[in-house]
Amino acid sequence: MKKILVIHGPNLNLLGKREPDIYGKVTIDDINRDLKKMARVKNVKLEIVQSNHEGEIVELIGKSQGKFNAIVINPAAYTHTSVAIRDAISSVKVPAVEVHLSNIYAREEFRHTSLISPVAIGQICGFGKMSYILGLEAAIGLAGKK
Ligand code: DQA
Repeated sequence: MKKILVIHGPNLNLLGKREPDIYGKVTIDDINRDLKKMARVKNVKLEIVQSNHEGEIVELIGKSQGKFNAIVINPAAYTHTSVAIRDAISSVKVPAVEVHLSNIYAREEFRHTSLISPVAIGQICGFGKMSYILGLEAAIGLAGKK
């Protein structure tokens, strides 16, 4: 069975309460419930982690090879700052799909640059909770192809 690692980055534990005008009322539990439902239908195994710590995310990615076939990651604010997460993704032979709830290109200029996109297979943003569903669909298709 294919195994997919889903990583939610910093502050995504606050979804639902956090800036609802941007992120809506969806909570991380709602997202995870939908992802698990889809995983059951598609017959894949999911591990879902939320972390507010860059080093923890780096370690998860670094240890993903041999354990997971693909990664879905919302690096959140680290998208725009983290060379360490970018290097972790390019260090492992596990394809990664970058997802964002909001359309980062329609927001402040500092969000227009993703350090992660060049090492991800692709990026999906702007579709709210659906970004994760599309991301998981892409990850299942890519599993094992890096
Ligand atoms: C985000 C976009 C980032 O710019 C922001 O820092 C986040 C969430 C999104 O899902 O839209 O925390 O990754």
